[in-house]
Amino acid sequence: MKNRSQLVLEWYCIHQRILPWRENKNPYYIWISEIMLQQTKVETVKPYFKRFIQQLPTLLDLANCHEDDLMKLWQGLGYYRRVLNMQKAAILCVKEYDGKLPNNYQQLLTLPGIGNYTAGAIASIAYNEEVYAIDGNVLRIYSRLHDLHEDIMALKTKKIIEQYVSEDMNNQMGDYNQALMDIGATICTPLSPKCKDCPISSTCLAYKQNTVQLLPIKKRKKKASEHTYTIIIHQYKDKVLLHRRDKDGLLANLYEFETIKEEMVLSEPYISLGSYKHIFSHQIWNMQGYLVEHDYEIEKEDFFWVTYQEMIDKYSIPGAFLPFVQRITERREKHAT
Ligand code: ADE
Repeated sequence: MKNRSQLVLEWYCIHQRILPWRENKNPYYIWISEIMLQQTKVETVKPYFKRFIQQLPTLLDLANCHEDDLMKLWQGLGYYRRVLNMQKAAILCVKEYDGKLPNNYQQLLTLPGIGNYTAGAIASIAYNEEVYAIDGNVLRIYSRLHDLHEDIMALKTKKIIEQYVSEDMNNQMGDYNQALMDIGATICTPLSPKCKDCPISSTCLAYKQNTVQLLPIKKRKKKASEHTYTIIIHQYKDKVLLHRRDKDGLLANLYEFETIKEEMVLSEPYISLGSYKHIFSHQIWNMQGYLVEHDYEIEKEDFFWVTYQEMIDKYSIPGAFLPFVQRITERREKHAT
């Protein structure tokens, strides 16, 4: 009888998803994809990944990239610290590893922003090292395979699952890890798992016990805090007023419009840009946007004027504000015609 890893690998041969970062095994590309794929869906990542490797084709390009350009490449992906850590790691690789990523799990783990999962993914996919890469997908799959009713977020549960995954280790861990990612994304999904299509349902205890839908057990995490913001976009001719956010905290160093931490009634004439709710991992922002058209370049401390084109090409504006950017851009285009 075939064992679990054989079943998974055979399935992967036929059903693996065609993804841009699977076209070759360049460790630098695999690293970029793995960092982008943390907290962000595959379909969102695809165009970002292509643009990133086109503009920064080597690790040296990343090490030398200006921070603003880097943030611009990342604009809309969120969790900006990820890319800043990547640059720190790239600089280290230039200094210490001859401009290349180290070629093994233990050394990868020493780089900023690379934890167990990412080191495992890069080492197995790029170098075929025999290591696992346990992310949320793998935790879910293995909690079902072993009918494990423990809190999936607890460290103790992770340790148990590491042991289970170890039992399925094989000499194609790059493919095995990626196969689990694909099974997690397309078959063993959180809500409506497609057990009929699963290559390893015959080895799944939860399938046998009919508990798949109940797993994994996730204790409720702390509720996100809600905040109200008034966003004012000041405009003069084809310019808008921007401000660089603080170097610490949420969305550090990114650019924003005037952002007031309360609901506000504007005293000057405005055009409403409507509302937008943005959900971060630990915060929810309820925003009301306003466009204020000026007839001269007003001065505002710590703010500066940029053209629409510069705002779009040069300054990294967090995803939370992008619906307002879209609304003012559409409005401007309509008025131009
Ligand atoms: N999710 C995380 N890493 C991935 C990868 N390499 N392929 C597909 N989905 C992923």
